[in-house]
Amino acid sequence: MKLWLFGIYGIVGSTAIVGERAIRKGLSDTTGLVSELPEFEKLKDYAPLEFEFGGHDIRSLDKNLYQIVEEHWELNQHFDYRILLKLKEDLEKIRAKKGTALNCGEGVLEELKPLQTLEEEGLTLSQIVERLEKDLLEFADNETVAINVASTEPTLPYDEEVHGSLEGFERAIKENRKDKISASMLYAYVSLKNGIPFANFTPSVGSDIAALKELALKVGVPHAGNDGKTGETLVKTTLAPMFRYRNLRVLGWMGYNILGDLDGKVLAHEQNKRSKIVSKDKVVGKILGYFPYTITEINYFPPLQDNKTAFDFIHYQGFLGTKMKFYFIWDAIDAIVAAPLVLDIARFLMLAKKKGQKGVVKELAFFFKSPMETEEYNTHRQYEILKEWFQSLVS
Ligand SMILES: NC(=O)c1ccc[n+]([C@@H]2O[C@H](COP(=O)([O-])OP(=O)(O)OC[C@H]3O[C@@H](n4cnc5c(N)ncnc54)[C@H](O)[C@@H]3O)[C@@H](O)[C@H]2O)c1
Repeated sequence: MKLWLFGIYGIVGSTAIVGERAIRKGLSDTTGLVSELPEFEKLKDYAPLEFEFGGHDIRSLDKNLYQIVEEHWELNQHFDYRILLKLKEDLEKIRAKKGTALNCGEGVLEELKPLQTLEEEGLTLSQIVERLEKDLLEFADNETVAINVASTEPTLPYDEEVHGSLEGFERAIKENRKDKISASMLYAYVSLKNGIPFANFTPSVGSDIAALKELALKVGVPHAGNDGKTGETLVKTTLAPMFRYRNLRVLGWMGYNILGDLDGKVLAHEQNKRSKIVSKDKVVGKILGYFPYTITEINYFPPLQDNKTAFDFIHYQGFLGTKMKFYFIWDAIDAIVAAPLVLDIARFLMLAKKKGQKGVVKELAFFFKSPMETEEYNTHRQYEILKEWFQSLVS
């Protein structure tokens, strides 16, 4: 199958490609891929672990993917360099097309300079859509999925007239209302409009507005999001149910994250950070059924590069009103925990498409911090739901 990545030159997107190629060439095993667990074995009949890749980005377009991965590698050393050398020829063939940075916030505009974007060519919204569509359609076939792994955008204020219906959204494109539409919405729009399943791995809006949900149902295409659940939030949503099961009262939960690298730089900007914090903060209360005092912070810490560290402190109350404490530290290479999920999501979405599913696939909530159209945040339950859904489709 084929996978189009918006933000293909980022460390998550490029590591997903390296991983797939390394597995195919026998240079690595499938550890980290949920879709390769024995319970999902039949997935290979619908969506084998073999991809062709393409995508959009907004920087370094004069470089090929090999050069980009080398740059990420020099900073992060996130896998064995011998793997990269063996993939050189393959990766050199992959080049990003020029995307849009519409309403991506000052984090993107400042930190990713010099940018190469479609709007800098003076194109109108309709022309931007046409160009994105052209790139996508030149690449895509019937077995293509598109995933947004671009930098996190700030949240645009919701405007019912534009975001509330497909008609309003398309009118805004025609009227060139650039203030109302963001890059992630355009990426979701061109994918869904052309029957290509779309997933949003970021906290940006993506397909999470009524207009685009309507489009997905109209065209009959599945989509999923938002924001990959890969690190601290994965641990939080796995651990919070334990407090609930044992009727322990969580009084407060503090999560403090530090990370470097490009993602950290972009998230150092308040506007861009806000969407991420909202996404990480609400999960505990949703699982517990009440909202304890929470602090969720993310700070840029350049020396760490892509190595993200989260410090969590949980203050809770037990029998006889006694207060106790629990601490954990999550120390992971961000791209290594995120990249396999990109491949997993693509494969499950392809299955959904082949089985005629359309609209939001709630059963993929397991993969996301802010899953659409479900209130189920408990990782254990989400996993059971994923398995049941899969079984119902393949048996
Ligand atoms: N564990 C994780 O790493 C993790 C988990 C959940 C979500 N995410 C999200 O995934 C995204 C990618 O993370 P990353 O670490 O690869 O970041 P990154 O900064 O390495 O990569 C982002 C890439 O997107 C490109 N980009 C930015 N705006 C774009 C646009 N409008 N159109 C096309 N390309 C654009 C950038 O040039 C860059 O190549 C971020 O939004 C991040 O918050 C990451």
